[in-house]
Amino acid sequence: MYKIVKKEILAKDIKLIGVEAPHITYNAKAGNFVVVIVDEKGERVPLTIYDWDKERGIVYIIFMEVGTSTKKLGLLNEGDYLYAIAGPFGKHFNIQNYGNVVIIGGGVGTPAIFPIARDLKKSGNKVLSIMGFRTKELVILEKEMKSVSDKVIIATNDGSYGKKGLVTDALQELIYEKEKIDLVIAIGPVIMMKAVSDLTKIYNLKTIVSLNAIMIDATGMCGGCRVTVGGEIKFSCVDGPDFDGHLVDFDQLLLRLSAYKDKEQESLTYCRLNKKIEENKNV
Ligand code: FES
Repeated sequence: MYKIVKKEILAKDIKLIGVEAPHITYNAKAGNFVVVIVDEKGERVPLTIYDWDKERGIVYIIFMEVGTSTKKLGLLNEGDYLYAIAGPFGKHFNIQNYGNVVIIGGGVGTPAIFPIARDLKKSGNKVLSIMGFRTKELVILEKEMKSVSDKVIIATNDGSYGKKGLVTDALQELIYEKEKIDLVIAIGPVIMMKAVSDLTKIYNLKTIVSLNAIMIDATGMCGGCRVTVGGEIKFSCVDGPDFDGHLVDFDQLLLRLSAYKDKEQESLTYCRLNKKIEENKNV
């Protein structure tokens, strides 16, 4: 059992928790993820590590409540315990001096870009960050990203904050402005990473994406997270999660991610948790 020592609500349905897990902070690096099991009947949920405090052995995770498991996770408070947290998993991001890096985070992909941007900046890169959200109420980590970036551009779909439009619009503007770009990193919804990769392919800009495939064991054994990259089968949990965006078969990934949509909805609809969530909202 792992104690939750910090909890913050960052935006609607987006929460941060700090969990005592020194076995994870000991080895954590930017780009790694953890697998969380909320209670003894819970499923395994892969979540990217947002930050960690090695001295205190605390790992910080930011998640959006979208399904039954993340809603259950969101109900836990400081002092409560997670049934299990394992990791760090995945290959960490290859931090080196690339030059000028544009790093793009979409929605709850933003927590994943924070430690990468921080370490890239420390390694002497110029870091230009683009953060995309649906609307102003969902904007998170603006201050934190500004502290690790040379420039931050925020885009909202409805124009309620920052630039109106998508992250690809902001990226296109940088390209038109002849900003020197040596590497693009995009983390967020698959459709966003696909759009970024389609755009950067036109300009021949090297692009790395982080794939959030369905995961079960996270150790390369179940095959649940398989993706096709450059015509080859890869397991995103052990071969990734970072891959060359120009080689990823995004359409196949989108199809695989939608395979359990009905089950997830069923789970949400019938889970008695719904009642508890409503009660919680009224507190
Ligand atoms: Fe099972 Fe990757 S999650 S092989």
